[in-house]
Amino acid sequence: MREQRIQVNLSTERKPKPQTDQLGFGKIFTDHMFVMDYTDELGWHDPKIIPYQPLTLDPASMIFHYGQTVFEGMKAYLTSDNRILLFRPERNMQRLNRSNDRLCIPRIDEEFALEALKQLILVDKEWIPKAEGTSLYIRPFIVATEPFLGVHPSSSYKFVIILSPVGSYYKEGIQPVKILVENAFVRAVAGGTGEAKTAGNYAASLKAQETASLKKYSQVLWLDGIEKKYIEEVGSMNVFFKINGEIITPELNGSILQGVTRDSVIQLLRHWGLTVSERKISMQEVYDAYHAGQLEEAFGTGTAAVISPIGEFFWNDEQLLIHNGQTGEVAKRLYHTLTGIQNGTEPDPFNWVTEVGQEVPAK
Ligand code: COI
Repeated sequence: MREQRIQVNLSTERKPKPQTDQLGFGKIFTDHMFVMDYTDELGWHDPKIIPYQPLTLDPASMIFHYGQTVFEGMKAYLTSDNRILLFRPERNMQRLNRSNDRLCIPRIDEEFALEALKQLILVDKEWIPKAEGTSLYIRPFIVATEPFLGVHPSSSYKFVIILSPVGSYYKEGIQPVKILVENAFVRAVAGGTGEAKTAGNYAASLKAQETASLKKYSQVLWLDGIEKKYIEEVGSMNVFFKINGEIITPELNGSILQGVTRDSVIQLLRHWGLTVSERKISMQEVYDAYHAGQLEEAFGTGTAAVISPIGEFFWNDEQLLIHNGQTGEVAKRLYHTLTGIQNGTEPDPFNWVTEVGQEVPAK
């Protein structure tokens, strides 16, 4: 990408900041957003920070018809001494480009996008909430904007970053969630788009999610799309099980999202000397372990969900209550350590956090 200067046009109006108990997840947005355009002629160009506002798109824009779009999820944290930290943001930018490749969207310059993100955060830094369990959620996304009804990759795009002060993703907060194992619908198959962070995967999940919600389950656990036998992931997070001392998470197989939190959790567990296996795990294995009294814990991992203990699975009309519906020791320790690294209260042995505010300004 050509060297670019980010234009900054500050808003003349500032919205009131929410109270901590109003936060929830993804409902409130800050005063500014980052936007950059792409055309085949100019490449990525015209990066700017502007007041938060609706996007105006032609109704024929290809995003509306064929779903050519990708997104990311990250968080910024405020430390007790008012430093702003990002957690492994370069990993999200790399994944954004992997999703771009899968969706035939032109790659972005990862370093430049990270710099733009840091500038946006600094502009809206007053929005980063301080209370425990809160953060500023970051949603970068790219949409296809060419007005055309034929099916081919768009020749123009918009890259946008918006920010949202958030509390916990689940209404349960950090209490265990209940998960319904989905036997009918599938989320993805290897060779499809399951590994990419693209809207279609989430649209495809809504029907099962709706049924789960009606039955008072927080999310569904997806099984593989071919045999409906092997565990893949939960709607918004990767999943881990502790069975007889072994911590198991489904191996990356082309249809599972390559979670940044998943990778961080695996590294932390190994750093603590615990056994972690990335392998195929069937729902039957989990069920058998449960009945043998060996299913010690289950938890999900994700940027939005952080570490979310799972208190119950419902599979084939049977309720599997895990750890008596309480948070297990591994999930507790992971939550404490991971959020501690992210908030700057725990040592960061892997150099995962990046401080915002020390970067060289955009060229
Ligand atoms: C995230 O964890 O950041 C995600 O993008 C998941 C989303 C469904 C909230």
